[in-house]
Amino acid sequence: MNSNLLLDNPRPTVAAPALRTKAELRSALADARRAGQTIGLVPTMGYLHEGHLSLIRAARAECDLVVMSLFVNPTQFGPGEDLDRYPRDEERDLRLAGEAGADLVFAPPVEEVYAPGASTVVEVTGSLTGVLDGDPQSRGPEHFRGVTTVVAKLFNIVGPDVAYFGQKDAQQAVVIRRMARDLDFPVRIEVMPTVREADGLAMSSRNAYLEPADRERATALSRALAAAERGACAGSLSGGLGAARRELEEAGIEPEYLEARDAETLEPVEALEGRPVLVAVAARVGSARLIDNVLIQPSSNSNFDSPNF
Ligand code: PAF
Repeated sequence: MNSNLLLDNPRPTVAAPALRTKAELRSALADARRAGQTIGLVPTMGYLHEGHLSLIRAARAECDLVVMSLFVNPTQFGPGEDLDRYPRDEERDLRLAGEAGADLVFAPPVEEVYAPGASTVVEVTGSLTGVLDGDPQSRGPEHFRGVTTVVAKLFNIVGPDVAYFGQKDAQQAVVIRRMARDLDFPVRIEVMPTVREADGLAMSSRNAYLEPADRERATALSRALAAAERGACAGSLSGGLGAARRELEEAGIEPEYLEARDAETLEPVEALEGRPVLVAVAARVGSARLIDNVLIQPSSNSNFDSPNF
C-alpha cells in the first residue's frame, strides 16, 4: 500500500483495507508516524460485534489513525479448545471495521506472526495469570502467555499510542496493563465498558455457538452478576455471591468459577473495603464457554440498572 494514501485520502466509510504483512503495515504507517499523528490499535480475533465496534469508535474519537488487528491467535488456545471452530467472517469484519472508523485492518496469516521455530514468549508471572481463567483447572496460565505474546508483538509491529480492550475480558485487561508497565511499552491502555444485548447477555463472538434454549439460559450470567453487585452494595458481598449462585443454579448452570477479587491485584476479597472489586464468572452453557464480570466501585451506581434485572 502506498504510505501516502492515509495522509492524502479521507478514511474509508466502507470496508477497511486489509494488510497481510508487517512490512506493508509499517510502510502504511510510516508517513503518519513521521507527521506525528497518533495511532490507535484495536486488537481483535474478528467476528466483530458491537463490543468491538465500540472500541473502534473510541479509537476513532481519540486518534488520528485507527488500526484494527484481526488475528485468531493460535497460541492462546489450549488443546481441545475451539481454535478450529472459532467463528470467522473476514469480509463482514472489514466492512464493519471500516464503517466504525478503522483506517486499516492488519490481518496477517499465522506464519507472518509466528516465524518457523519461534521460541520467545512474553509471560506475566505470578497470581495475575494463575487465577480465574489462568487457574490450571480453567484455561491455565498458558492462555495468558499466548495473549501477552501476541499483544506484545502487535505493540511492536504497530507502535500504537493507545490500545483499546474490553472490560468483558477483565483479567486479560489487567494482565496486559501489567505487561505494558513492566516492559515499558510506550502505550496507553484503554479499557472500555462491556457492551450487552438488551436482555443483559454480554456480547461475545462465542455467543454464536449458543442454541436458542442455551441463549436464553445464558442470560442467568448477567443476572447473577447483578445479584452479586446488589448484595455487595447492600453490605454483604458473600450474600451477593450466594444470590448469584442461586441465579445460576435456577438456570441449570454450574459455574467454572464465580469469585470476588481485588480488581487490580486479583487477590481474593471478602468485602467491599474502599477498593474496586471484580466479580467474575465463567461457565459452559451448551457448547459455549462464556465469561462475564462486574466491576463494583466502592461508591457507585449499579452497572445493571436496566429493568431486565
Ligand atoms: O481479546 C481478544 O480478542 C484477544 O485475546 C486479543 C487481545 C485480540 C489477543 O489475541
